[in-house]
Amino acid sequence: MRITGLGHASVRIETAHGTVLTDPWVNPAYFGSWFPFPDNSQLDWDHYGDVDYLFVSHLHRDHFDAEHLRRHVSKRATVLLPEFPTSELEDALRECGFTSFVKPASGDVVHLDGLDVMIQALTSPTDGPIGDSSLWLSDGSYRVLNQNDARPSELEAFRELGPVDAYLIQFSGAIWFPMVYELPERAKQAMGATKRERQFDRTLRYIDELGARFVFPTAGPPCFLDEELWGFNDIFGDESNIFPDQTVYLHWLAEKGHDEGRLLLPGTVAALDQPGCPVEHPYDPATVFASNDTKAAYLRQMQARRMPEVDALRATWAHPEIDIPGALAQWFGPLLEESTHIAAGIDGGIRFTCEDTGYDGARGDIDILIDFVGREVRSYAGEKVRYRFRTRRAYVEQLIAEHEIDWVNSLFLSCRFAASRVGPYNEFVYVFFKCLSEERLQYAEGWFTEQNATEAAESITLNDSSGHGWEMQRRCPHLKADLSRFGTVADTPKNGPVLTCQMHGWKWRLSDGKCLSSVGHDLRCAPAGEPAPASSGDFGGPVAT
Ligand code: FES
Repeated sequence: MRITGLGHASVRIETAHGTVLTDPWVNPAYFGSWFPFPDNSQLDWDHYGDVDYLFVSHLHRDHFDAEHLRRHVSKRATVLLPEFPTSELEDALRECGFTSFVKPASGDVVHLDGLDVMIQALTSPTDGPIGDSSLWLSDGSYRVLNQNDARPSELEAFRELGPVDAYLIQFSGAIWFPMVYELPERAKQAMGATKRERQFDRTLRYIDELGARFVFPTAGPPCFLDEELWGFNDIFGDESNIFPDQTVYLHWLAEKGHDEGRLLLPGTVAALDQPGCPVEHPYDPATVFASNDTKAAYLRQMQARRMPEVDALRATWAHPEIDIPGALAQWFGPLLEESTHIAAGIDGGIRFTCEDTGYDGARGDIDILIDFVGREVRSYAGEKVRYRFRTRRAYVEQLIAEHEIDWVNSLFLSCRFAASRVGPYNEFVYVFFKCLSEERLQYAEGWFTEQNATEAAESITLNDSSGHGWEMQRRCPHLKADLSRFGTVADTPKNGPVLTCQMHGWKWRLSDGKCLSSVGHDLRCAPAGEPAPASSGDFGGPVAT
């Protein structure tokens, strides 16, 4: 078996029973903000796209590149489709010209002419754009798990299938946090450093759990070529930058005693069937990664080649004819009316300022309030709000012109906005902005309802550092990770014993189950031997168990 890196989360896996292409992405994504790093635009994509199977893990634009799929991937390929709650991914792939689909039940192994395939579909409203997935496959000799940026919590299914020979995992950031937050620089640096550390630590937990033999860091980091975003590239020696590159991670992994990491450049071939899994690079990695200066020079060259693509996009963004308040009132109004759990979780207003800065002329700012209590969109009139976003007027006009139903998978991932909030992170804010269609909103509302109704009856006990037992629900209130595997308890001076779920690093104060990382999401817990108090569902808002 051979694995060829094709940039970001894309690989071509040649097996004894067919060739699989995953997540091919080349064109700039999210308002021209993200590019694959290193550059993969000069690969022979017609060759790499001539495959038996195509797997697109989810609809995020750095995994689903419609233009590229249309032009360069063989339509004879059978699509390995995750079992998502909506048909959006299948519809989008059909629009690209694909007609052959296999859709296994999530977590089931299917046999395809000698190739065994299992797709785990993650379906909470916070996974990807309503769904993310991982691909496990075996040709009888070698097992591969392409986890990319999915965070499966059910590892048992993989373990039962045996240790994986090749493990492809995300290790770098793919989010706007903390860069866009209007916080003191020092606070942002501390948050960024913690995030960077946690991204790396999480991979180790998975590697150990899965018994991975060779590890391939994939699915990031992106690079930023627009001068406005240039500072996000990890070329300044800043330990709080959330976008460390593959070589930084592999160095860290080696320091942790793991020598099984392998670098995939676009075009690198890894021979899994050879002793030690040697890799053959298309060029010397040092020409990109030798130092921050080398990397910066590489990015400048890439910028000179590829910025015209962003300039062409930029010319299409402003739509002066659009009445933003009117359009959003008409669009969001019915969604606000139908929202129960999301509205209760936000329980207030979001101020959204569309600024007329930069290139879109002197048309003035537009300041609106999305009111989840009054269930309406109206002009902002000085109300106190906990959540605020600021972005360019042209971007919002483009979102309206395209009727973009997922602002996370467009505006927010672009990092072309600023955010502030009072109080903790509130996941429901972002769930709302990714559910701007009837279908998605109904799905999210139904999901929260079901989660509340089926709050885990199962309990586990974890000991704190003094040896006292704490009984708690087995499943993490965030995204259901098994806390017997991902939970740790440590004493803290401020909150006493605190549970940390290593899956995403969220924390809970065990004395009362309060979530310290987000609004809502409280934990059912009590000292072992005492009855657990009523759970988080009592707070009246959405609670995922
Ligand atoms: S599943 Fe996200 S913090 Fe536990």
